[in-house]
Amino acid sequence: MKEVVIGFLGCGNVGGGVWELLKGFAPEIAHRDHVSIRVKRVLVRDVTKARSCSVPPELLTTDPADVLYDPEISLVAEFMGGEQPATEYMLTAMKNGKTVVTANKVAVALNWHRLQAAAQQSRVGLYYEASVCGAIPIISTLMTPLQANRIDKLMGIINGTTNYILSRMYQYGEDYDLVLRDAQKLGLAEPNPASDVEGMDAAYKLSVMASLAFHARVPFKQVYREGITRVTAMDIACGKEMGYVLKLLAIAKRDGSTIEVRVHPTFLPKDHPLSRVDGSFNAVYLHGHACKEMMLQGRGAGDMPTASAVVGDILQAATAEVHVHPTFANTAEPDASLTFTDNWKTRFFIRVSASDAPGVLARVAGCFARENVSIATMMQKDAVEDGRVPLIFITHAAPEQSMQAALRHLEPEICRLESVIRVEA
Ligand code: NAP
Ligand code: HSE
Repeated sequence: MKEVVIGFLGCGNVGGGVWELLKGFAPEIAHRDHVSIRVKRVLVRDVTKARSCSVPPELLTTDPADVLYDPEISLVAEFMGGEQPATEYMLTAMKNGKTVVTANKVAVALNWHRLQAAAQQSRVGLYYEASVCGAIPIISTLMTPLQANRIDKLMGIINGTTNYILSRMYQYGEDYDLVLRDAQKLGLAEPNPASDVEGMDAAYKLSVMASLAFHARVPFKQVYREGITRVTAMDIACGKEMGYVLKLLAIAKRDGSTIEVRVHPTFLPKDHPLSRVDGSFNAVYLHGHACKEMMLQGRGAGDMPTASAVVGDILQAATAEVHVHPTFANTAEPDASLTFTDNWKTRFFIRVSASDAPGVLARVAGCFARENVSIATMMQKDAVEDGRVPLIFITHAAPEQSMQAALRHLEPEICRLESVIRVEA
């Protein structure tokens, strides 16, 4: 029986889940894979803190050297979170000949080139399945079975916290703050939930997924990002009435050498496969020239679903004869032959509050016409507030810049812009 000795960096939601999964699953792993896994040390910030998992207190340490420099430890599993010191700890571990398994999308998205170079130099493994979409095997799917595809489109619900919040707001009209608190209690939210609700978490994950899908580094800084903090119950209700469901979508499209990558609240028709993905579930919908449409769905957050991906990586690393890395040039800056565009073409949901007077609708619609933006559907609500009524437009597909130009023509004395939400099909 091969024994693999592991060190943990972190023991919170994910680390605790990994500990419990390894403990409960060890006999099956030993029987099936002839590998016995022993966790030797666990780095935390505070050894006196009460923990819900059953890690023996004598394994806990606050000294990173106990994990990073112990010659008996051959694999380091990182679930501390944040860019630093996690990145430096992982680099040190690999320099010392240890394979790294991580759930940390921030460190991978921002420092992937450094981490991969260190792994290749030391001939060790770097595994990060858990960093994107929790239990869904999207990293390995993009890296292996989908290699024979030119993927041109990928759309995902890749943040469990925001999907949980938007689903409850859509289904029960519940208040944003209350639902966010519940997501935190469930262990779905990041240590700093601003990263979830501002779309950062999804943007980190999209940077990693799009790079693997397009075989080219898609740096995090190229991802356009809007979170859900400005979404209102009224927008969700109006969209619902018009047959749409609101999701925080991560979208990556490639047309030749032009790439668009964006994360923002998006209305989807209610019969779209992604519209039915609710709660903390994640899903990735993609199109490749050979595989055609495909959707992977599963639990994208939480201790055990994330532990499932981490332990899968640990087993793969422990039994691999060679460690595999992506083959594209993994550099900090993108390949010079690629163009990242912010003038994507999409449909728009526009809500304005307009004076309830003759001719106002024609003047508002005229602003769209001036920029060649065509209106597909329009709804006027009869709720009058301060002499104003809500007007909602859904446009045909138009370039982002034309839409922004049209909105600049709106006349403040007759109408106030309330919301701009992109619509995908
Ligand atoms: P968490 O509950 O806050 O746990 C973080 C752990 O790291 C804690 O044990 C903490 O120690 C330790 N830690 C943090 N900074 C440290 C430092 N400087 N030195 C020593 N120990 C340190 O976070 P989490 O939810 O488990 O998330 C961990 C990672 O997994 C993040 O990268 C996150 O993005 C990723 N992830 C999370 C989920 C999820 O559903 N939560 C899913 C997928 C991926 P103390 O316990 O002493 O405070
Ligand atoms: N906070 C993240 C989410 C955890 O809600 O999806 C998984 O990365």
